[in-house]
Amino acid sequence: MARNRTAFFDIPPDQLSERDARAELKELAELIAHHDRLYHEQDQPEISDAEYDALRQRNESIEERFPQLILPESPSRKIGAAPAEGFKKVRHRVPMLSLENAFLREDIVDWLDGIRNYLLELRDPGVAIAVRCEPKIDGLSCALRYEGGNLVSAATRGNGEVGEDVTANVMTIQNVPQALKGAGWPDVIEVRGEVYMTDADFLALNEQQEAVGAKVFANPRNAAAGSLRQLDPSVTASRPLHFTAHGWGESSESFAESQSEALRRIHRWGFQASEPSRVVQIVAADVGGLCGYYDDIERRRSGLGFSIDGIVLKVDRLGWQGRLGFVSRSPRWAVAWKFPPERAVTVVEDIQCQVGRTGKITPVAHLKPITVGGVLVRRATLHNSDEIARKDIRIGDTVVIQRAGDVIPQVVETLPAQRPTDSVPYRFPERCPVCGSRVVREAGEADSYCTGGLICSAQVVERLKHFASRDAFDIDGLGDKNIEAFYRNGLIQTPVDIFTLETRDGQQLPPLREWEGWGEKSARKLFDAVRRARMIPLDRFIYALGIRQVGEATARLLAKHYRSLAHWRGCMEASQDRSSEAYLELCAINGIGARMADDILEFIAEPHNQAVLDGLTSAAGGRPPLVSVADFERQAAETPIFGKTVVFTGTLESMSRSEAKSQAEALGANVAGAVSRKTDYVVAGPGAGSKEKRARELGLTVLTEQQWLELIRNEFE
Ligand code: IVH
Repeated sequence: MARNRTAFFDIPPDQLSERDARAELKELAELIAHHDRLYHEQDQPEISDAEYDALRQRNESIEERFPQLILPESPSRKIGAAPAEGFKKVRHRVPMLSLENAFLREDIVDWLDGIRNYLLELRDPGVAIAVRCEPKIDGLSCALRYEGGNLVSAATRGNGEVGEDVTANVMTIQNVPQALKGAGWPDVIEVRGEVYMTDADFLALNEQQEAVGAKVFANPRNAAAGSLRQLDPSVTASRPLHFTAHGWGESSESFAESQSEALRRIHRWGFQASEPSRVVQIVAADVGGLCGYYDDIERRRSGLGFSIDGIVLKVDRLGWQGRLGFVSRSPRWAVAWKFPPERAVTVVEDIQCQVGRTGKITPVAHLKPITVGGVLVRRATLHNSDEIARKDIRIGDTVVIQRAGDVIPQVVETLPAQRPTDSVPYRFPERCPVCGSRVVREAGEADSYCTGGLICSAQVVERLKHFASRDAFDIDGLGDKNIEAFYRNGLIQTPVDIFTLETRDGQQLPPLREWEGWGEKSARKLFDAVRRARMIPLDRFIYALGIRQVGEATARLLAKHYRSLAHWRGCMEASQDRSSEAYLELCAINGIGARMADDILEFIAEPHNQAVLDGLTSAAGGRPPLVSVADFERQAAETPIFGKTVVFTGTLESMSRSEAKSQAEALGANVAGAVSRKTDYVVAGPGAGSKEKRARELGLTVLTEQQWLELIRNEFE
């Protein structure tokens, strides 16, 4: 008998609640498996092909809307039906953060100093801090999810929020356990670590590749990434990859008190954990023990057999880690102490200026190609005109360059003894090399800008690239090269045009599938990716606009404060009047300075930017992109202070000001620096002055520290 479907089946995916979506996906998985069996094994289909396709289509569109609910047994993930179009996206339930970099001993002193300052009880220099030291493996990070002890999925880091589903490929890595060993593992545990290739395997792979005329990899990291991101898992299986664990993400229960204990356990469950490690006890600000580990690993670096680019230091106690939390995308409790960048000597063949999306002009040295630390380098940034003048870098000079990790190589110094006799100092252009507009440099600024705005094609193209990039709209298939081609051919001029590509396809020009290098599949893949991008968290939307000075962290602040696109835009428009409440509110957001506010308001005031915002939000450009709530909102439960604005003033006694602020933010509050009519709570400690006074004048709720702690207490129990 044909199975029936439940009532919510025909609700559009956008309107489904998460609960219903979960139930329906489960039902669809069973239903499709049932029809697969009838069709393939019993040759007795109950439904038509069209009905079957409709079920799969429905499954896909719900998964697109709720990627976090994709089931391990989902029909879309069946191995063999491997997505030729690329990897599926997976939303990380706990974001995958990255690490702040340190280069000098003093940076480490500062890091520890910050920790001692942040946690009140550590302000006593006699209290020791145990720091776990590990090598920083140069691979790519991966999250492996185990349920009931079995490996159910694996994802790359991606942009930290959404990664790629590489389950089938990770299953082929020899030292990844398919099932956890021993006992005591949480029912759900996501082990995180690094996928890498040993130096010997890397060299052997490159020899093989060369022998068959295939692509040779620049370094072990690229080789590991290239091997893991293979659409055909059997290719990954033929590559010698390894996995080493250095942490974890979601866990259904806590299983350790310290990082070291956790990694010992993870090791017992069958993983290789990052070694050689050491726990160093830090008293006061004495970083001697950490330097000892750093020197030791640097000495042993070439004998380890795998590539590392520094060490990682982590506060060992998990209780402290939790309280230290993270700032922007990096934890306060860990830091990467990188080895000095590798250097080489080469010749500057030319100096050319690039124009960025904000019009900023960056001079770039074109070098005689040279290998630095295994990577072929052809260009180095020269930053700005002051930097060129200070180092007196000229065309024809022999220079020392350095390269640290993925950072753009830099010119360290020029070697004047080897300078050609006819050389002349470099003259910075007065006109934009792309559009010919005037170049200006404001007083007190190091950077020069092209004044061409939208008539400068370089700026337009760079803005489009930024819009589609990984941390912004993240549109697969719309990389730099394609944007350039689409722009050149007049297909896209503004971000709005991206969303109408599909409806306009084949109208002015031949359809995309007929373009050179394109086909039916790649064109479809691009249109699908654009459709998926219509749903985007507010913070990424704001970041994508490419407002000067508004990076990811600021975009998050704005999204968190204003919470919807319409509200943010409305407030920015009202803020054009600098005496308005809206303007005061914007400037009162902690982390938004007056100059930044000016840049935001200048952006919003521009008619062409308004047209883009209109186009993106109205139906004018086809179906409008939907701006979903930012991720932190989705995660934050409704707490008594959710969405409330809080101001701390005076001295706090139970914790540092920074800790109180982060704690409030973690519960969904906005912490402001100044009191205004919009403030909900003012927490006043001893010594509070004018802010408390103003709060009382305005009739706001003023709390003592104790009352505040009671208000939020339940959330931390
Ligand atoms: S801990 C919150 N430990 O380095 C991030 N990361 O530059 C916790 N990495 O994305 C990461 N070796 O992929 C940690 N021993 C180690 C590591 C390590 C390599 C990678 C990791 C991270 C990147 C940050």
